[in-house]
Amino acid sequence: MALLHTEIDFVLQEAARIAAEYLKEHHDPGKRVLRATSPAKLQQELDLGLPAQGRPMESILGELPQWLDRSVRTGHPGFFNQLFGGYDLAAIVGEWMTAILNSSMYTYEVAPVATLMETALIRRMGGLAGFPDGEGVFAPGGSISNLMAVLAARNTCRPQVKQKGLQAQDRLVMFASADAHYSLKRAASIVGLGVEGLRPVPVDEVGRMQPEALAEMVDQAKAEGLQPFMVAATCSTTVPGAFDPIPPIADLAERHGLWLHLDASMGGTVLFSETHRSLMQGSERADSITWNPHKMMGVPLTCSALLLRRQGDLAASNALHADYLFHDDPEVSCDLGDLSIQCGRRMDAIKLWLSWQAHGDSGYRQRVDHLLSMASCFRDMIAARPAFKLVMEPQSFNVCFHYVPERLRSMAPGEARNAQLEVVTLALRDRLIASGRHMINFAPVRGVATFRMVVANPQVEESTLRQFLDEMEVLGADL
Ligand SMILES: Cc1ncc(COP(=O)(O)O)c(C=O)c1O
Repeated sequence: MALLHTEIDFVLQEAARIAAEYLKEHHDPGKRVLRATSPAKLQQELDLGLPAQGRPMESILGELPQWLDRSVRTGHPGFFNQLFGGYDLAAIVGEWMTAILNSSMYTYEVAPVATLMETALIRRMGGLAGFPDGEGVFAPGGSISNLMAVLAARNTCRPQVKQKGLQAQDRLVMFASADAHYSLKRAASIVGLGVEGLRPVPVDEVGRMQPEALAEMVDQAKAEGLQPFMVAATCSTTVPGAFDPIPPIADLAERHGLWLHLDASMGGTVLFSETHRSLMQGSERADSITWNPHKMMGVPLTCSALLLRRQGDLAASNALHADYLFHDDPEVSCDLGDLSIQCGRRMDAIKLWLSWQAHGDSGYRQRVDHLLSMASCFRDMIAARPAFKLVMEPQSFNVCFHYVPERLRSMAPGEARNAQLEVVTLALRDRLIASGRHMINFAPVRGVATFRMVVANPQVEESTLRQFLDEMEVLGADL
């Protein structure tokens, strides 16, 4: 036993020491966000083969820094590539405790504390969104939360499908903006509507769904003999970061009896901010909301909540009452298992609960206000520098822009210029990746490859943004 205790002490203390060193390096100006390496070279550098015989932990831990250092430092302030960034110490501890507890969220019996934590978080997040008497459940990511929302909407409007399958379903159709996340198309496909069962609604010049277009499309679908059942508005779209206008979409949903879902995977966090909460004005009128703390709240992946305005919809959609698992009286049970489409489910609530303890509402408020102020500062820098051009006015955390080399600045807008901008964007991104100091993604916007800045790390300051643009100008000078 003494030997076992010594090993536990050694392994966990050494792992914690390595983790602490790794995180501290994010603040070392010499450390790069990434070291671009081909898969073949990386295979040579790291021995990733699996041994037939186990090895001592000392040797395994000794190699940890090598592969940590060859991974992408998403916690580095120069990482702008995804809809997450930075790190949260309390949540990291939560992630670790989740593994140490190693249980599953289906029953209170095996996860008593985590079940009550998840229930408290769902109540609090629902409260912020305007669902005082709602319900909800955590799921592994925004895509699965969106899928569960589509399923709940379909099973509410066609309850017989749960039992009888698709032969009990007439031709249903749903709507989301043309810029909505592709997980909604996938959800449409999975629940048997087909990808074409999701109709993309045109957006305005800053990427918001156009409610008038939605109204026409709903009428059109009805005229075709289809049955509209759902509209998903996005609160901060994946590329432009646009917030669809909830009140007119909610009016329309009410008029036509459509389930209103808000994909606030990214945008839900604005609910903490007195200044920016109005972006989600009308959220209390939704039937369901997806909100990912693993995006703008800085909790490690994955951590996503699906919130519902009414109690009972999730169980009606998903419950199958597996009798080998659920032993409590359903009337008094705290079990969350039947709200989910999973059986075993990670205790992702623990890390969010710990993070919330450390930050409180006020910490998250400061975080979201800072992120949005840095995004706005970045927008102003882009507008002020002749080498850059805003592609659309940003609404939140994302800024879409082009680097415009001198030779293209006087060229008339149009296809030829766009083709050149596309080439420049791709070439400059390759150079940035090779340099490894900053990492930013690109996406087609109106058909042209465009840089998408995402401010997700609260450690980003004006100087971080300035240095990034300086580097782009240096690397792009001869393009
Ligand atoms: C608006 C939106 N919804 C849903 C998702 C999917 O979330 P996840 O990656 O957690 O599945 C994303 C991811 O980028 C997103 O931007």
